[in-house]
Amino acid sequence: MTLPAHDTDLRHWLRKLPKAELHVHIEGTLEPELMFDLARRNGLSLPWPDVQAVRNAYRFTDLQSFLDLYYAGAGVLCTEQDFHDLAMAWLQRARADGVVHAEIMFDPQTHTSRGIPIKVVFAGLASALRQARQDWGLSSGLLLSFLRHLSEREAMDTLEAALPLREAYQDLWIGVGLDSAERDNPPEKFARVFTRCGELGFHRVAHAGEEGPAGYVRQALEILNVERIDHGVRSSEDPELLQELIHRQIPLTVCPLSNLKLGVVERLEDHNLARMLRAGACITLNSDDPAYFGGYLLDNYVAAARALELSHDELVTLMANSLRASFLPAADKSRLLDQLAARVGQA
Ligand code: HPA
Ligand code: ZN
Repeated sequence: MTLPAHDTDLRHWLRKLPKAELHVHIEGTLEPELMFDLARRNGLSLPWPDVQAVRNAYRFTDLQSFLDLYYAGAGVLCTEQDFHDLAMAWLQRARADGVVHAEIMFDPQTHTSRGIPIKVVFAGLASALRQARQDWGLSSGLLLSFLRHLSEREAMDTLEAALPLREAYQDLWIGVGLDSAERDNPPEKFARVFTRCGELGFHRVAHAGEEGPAGYVRQALEILNVERIDHGVRSSEDPELLQELIHRQIPLTVCPLSNLKLGVVERLEDHNLARMLRAGACITLNSDDPAYFGGYLLDNYVAAARALELSHDELVTLMANSLRASFLPAADKSRLLDQLAARVGQA
């Protein structure tokens, strides 16, 4: 089957098919308009005069140049209502893209370091996620992510501060992640805290092989025992590692527009996701920080499809991979995979 020639038709087709978003940072969904609203609400000033100036500042040269802005923007998030509004705004867009399940990263240390209690963050995000589940049947989970530019001690303290909330959020808090500046912050730095998370029964994911070398992907697998790799695009620099990822079907949550905006790839046409997918890797498409990188989930699908000439079947495989790679119970996965197959058949 050939793909629709026009992007609006392609989007329409993609929208109807069930898919999961597995790599999105909730702080990275903060659109400049909401950033200004929240700054006003909280009596804070921003280093930009207006929304357009913020957008103009979104010219990144690498991961760090983005992170500097991303942490500055997140400084407007103060109250439970702020976190609720942030998550609800993203959920509405995700629903419009045909997302049926989301596993969402959040960075508590970005907020606790400003004196925002971790329970405020959990409560605000949870009320929005529960509302989306109830009202729209959009299910979700939270991945508490540790900032890798900080120490392992601080990660451990964050985990300990969050654990008393586990029972209250057991329907949502499914696992942990590792994000922020990758260079010189190898996965092995977080060996003990990830071991503890494993013992506690949390799912584990980590960013690796975005800017860092393939060796960091190996460390994430062997030392942190992660079940998915976020990004992982540099894995292909080590053919033996790539073979292992394929053999074990370890998912790579790839974010094409993020990679383009942060200079991980120079041109989308050069992205290795199609080559890895065609070699049998479990690739999923995701949006990472959509407010900063100029695209939500469907934008990533359409951009990748056009630049890499993905086929109809390859796009369906990417959506099926997103469902398979999720941490949903097996029964939910097979229900959604059946739904995907049925809708593809109808199209
Ligand atoms: N990489 C690392 N840390 C991040 C990212 C990313 O793409 N987005 C938000 N935090
Ligand atoms: Zn990310």
